[in-house]
Amino acid sequence: MIAYVDSLSSIPNEISVMEAASLMCAGKTTFSAIKNCKARPGDLVAIQGIGGLGHLAVQFESKAGFLTLAISRGNNKEALARELGAHHYIDSAEEDPSEALQGLDGNKVYLATAPNAKAVSSLINGLGQDGELIIVTTSSYSLELSAMDFMKGPGTVKGTLTGGAEEIQATINFSVLTDTRPMIESYPLDRASEAYDKMKSPSLISVLY
Ligand SMILES: NC(=O)c1ccc[n+]([C@@H]2O[C@H](COP(=O)([O-])OP(=O)(O)OC[C@H]3O[C@@H](n4cnc5c(N)ncnc54)[C@H](OP(=O)(O)O)[C@@H]3O)[C@@H](O)[C@H]2O)c1
Repeated sequence: MIAYVDSLSSIPNEISVMEAASLMCAGKTTFSAIKNCKARPGDLVAIQGIGGLGHLAVQFESKAGFLTLAISRGNNKEALARELGAHHYIDSAEEDPSEALQGLDGNKVYLATAPNAKAVSSLINGLGQDGELIIVTTSSYSLELSAMDFMKGPGTVKGTLTGGAEEIQATINFSVLTDTRPMIESYPLDRASEAYDKMKSPSLISVLY
């Protein structure tokens, strides 16, 4: 095939094509959000939702030197989150994440991957003066934001979108350098619908783990 060279990314031998495929969307989206966020190594970055994107974000953040906090509903992903590199874990079914975060020093950035407007909106109150909420999820519901939420500082709430060969390459390179890998399962093509159903299952990560 013929392709524009600036649309291509190279996949080094250290990483499989299937692993690279996940990194090119889920990985690139979270890596790019972290790379371009306000936080600097040592600052706190929280990830809401430990799913396809979130489990990569936890690895990227901890490996890039951020104080990494995972926010998940229930405690069944705590062991996984900590194994992936999370330093703190908040069970949002038990405690309000924004209240819990107000008590932690260095509160800088939230990465919201949960596809639920109420869940994303619930983080707003935890943002400090220098906080930044990066919306990764593509939920189409309206967020609950007040005018005051935008008075907390420039760039407090922003979104991020996948795409761009250069950022994809940076994601792959970082993943190879730091041994960051997606948790994936492969199915033969004749079981594609089974794989699809499992992918849509909310407990996928628990099942994998
Ligand atoms: N911006 C972009 O360019 C881009 C690129 C790719 C994907 N996306 C979007 O990113 C979002 C996440 O994708 P994903 O593949 O990570 O999905 P996923 O594997 O389903 O993970 C989403 C996580 O969000 C949490 N969650 C789900 N429903 C929730 C609810 N009702 N309330 C609170 N938390 C909830 C769950 O985490 P816990 O079980 O840990 O609570 C779940 O594991 C999707 O909306 C997807 O379309 C955006």
